[in-house]
Amino acid sequence: MTGASQRDLSILLSQRGGAVPRYTSYPTAPHFEAGIGPQMQDALFGSLDDATPVSVYLHIPFCDRLCWFCGCNTKHTLKYEPVHTYVEALLAEIAALGDRLGFRPVAGQIHFGGGSPSILSAEDMGRLGAALRRSFHVTEQTEISVEIDPSDVTDDTLRGLHELGVTRASVGVQDFDPLVQKAINRPQSLEQTRDVIAAMRAAGVGSVNIDALYGLPLQTRARLMRTIEQVISLQPDRIALFGYAHVPWVKKHQKMIKDEHLPDMHERFQQALAAGAALVAAGYDAIGIDHFARPDDGLAVAARTGHLRRNFQGYTTDQCRALIPLGASSIGAFDGGYVQNIVATGQYQDAVHAARSTASKGYRMSEDDRIRAHMIERLMCDFRIGFEALEARFGAAAEPYINEALAIAEADEDYICGADIDGFFVPEDARPFARLVAARFDAHLHESDFRYSKAV
Ligand SMILES: C[S@@+](CC[C@H](N)C(=O)[O-])C[C@H]1O[C@@H](n2cnc3c(N)ncnc32)[C@H](O)[C@@H]1O
Ligand code: SF4
Repeated sequence: MTGASQRDLSILLSQRGGAVPRYTSYPTAPHFEAGIGPQMQDALFGSLDDATPVSVYLHIPFCDRLCWFCGCNTKHTLKYEPVHTYVEALLAEIAALGDRLGFRPVAGQIHFGGGSPSILSAEDMGRLGAALRRSFHVTEQTEISVEIDPSDVTDDTLRGLHELGVTRASVGVQDFDPLVQKAINRPQSLEQTRDVIAAMRAAGVGSVNIDALYGLPLQTRARLMRTIEQVISLQPDRIALFGYAHVPWVKKHQKMIKDEHLPDMHERFQQALAAGAALVAAGYDAIGIDHFARPDDGLAVAARTGHLRRNFQGYTTDQCRALIPLGASSIGAFDGGYVQNIVATGQYQDAVHAARSTASKGYRMSEDDRIRAHMIERLMCDFRIGFEALEARFGAAAEPYINEALAIAEADEDYICGADIDGFFVPEDARPFARLVAARFDAHLHESDFRYSKAV
């Protein structure tokens, strides 16, 4: 670390490595306000036109297994009926959106997240695809991505993915070690994962991402490194390496994970470093705080050319100015702010069928929010805020923020940020602490008593 010893790092981890947001948005979701969702949804839809590409996010909040580590918004179901009922509501929401707009916005990216969208039958994937094509202009360039739990994938799933025209699959691995898998209630073999990836590629899915986790119960560096080797052997185009977020006060099933089985903060940090180094040694580019991509992958290209973006799904190549949320709990974004759909699936379904607004919470951005959001996004993507670019974007309004950045760099005693004539930066060896640096620009951080997960 620039000028910093291991001892500095140790102090930083124990004193400051506490809880801060992951900054997939700014302000973060706990600051969204109840009640203004419908207003913000109107504003989002009012901002669209038929020439500017949009992104679409569909949330599928169902899984046929319940992993104890899971922090996602999902429900366990062994029956397909609730999924089918939910798909009916999604279809109605997509059709209502098309009727309301009266034109078909160009879809730049369509992402199915969850939960496990791979739980959908081929028939329902086909119906959703057809509905999306009626309400959006889906082109050859549209990226269609789907989150996959390999344990779901059957021939029917593969048919559905092919019909939907899926271009990218994101496959959950987490860890291949049997002891770790037992501690998180997620059995999944390397062979099964390899077969699913091969079958998806054969079905036309061009790009594959793998999710892996560090900081899991009973995970050691040796076990994690073995998993990373196995992940590399699967030759994914991208890898997301997340730190396990242990928030049992929000996700009750995480109480099944024993505190004494969790690696401490220093071990988590060493795990992240070792896994990241192995991926880089295998030829992957490190992207932002937790992604890795083959140098020829779009994400790596975006990172090299300053076009990397960060949204609710993490790092993305998505350049669209608006993100349209579909389904329970999904969050949309546009210049004016954020809007979140009703979280409870039953209430969401009732709202759709009664032709009421599906939106609940929202957030209207101020000019201050917009400038800070941009600075935090550039920090999380590039580890740098260029002063000239900030002035070019915000004009004279940028000046106080440049002064604030200089003051933050000046006050830093942890060697995790600095400033030069061109801008504010996080030194290369302090990149794991980017969330802590971003938090110093967060004007809302102390407004909410929400407890975030560990920053490292
Ligand atoms: C919606 S899930 C992925 C798809 C599928 N359901 C699966 O598990 O294979 C998205 C990803 O979020 C990550 N994730 C879930 N819970 C997490 C937690 N508590 N902390 C960090 N990452 C988590 C996992 O890596 C997971 O693959
Ligand atoms: S990790 Fe994936 S499969 Fe497991 S419960 Fe969460 S969303 Fe479902």
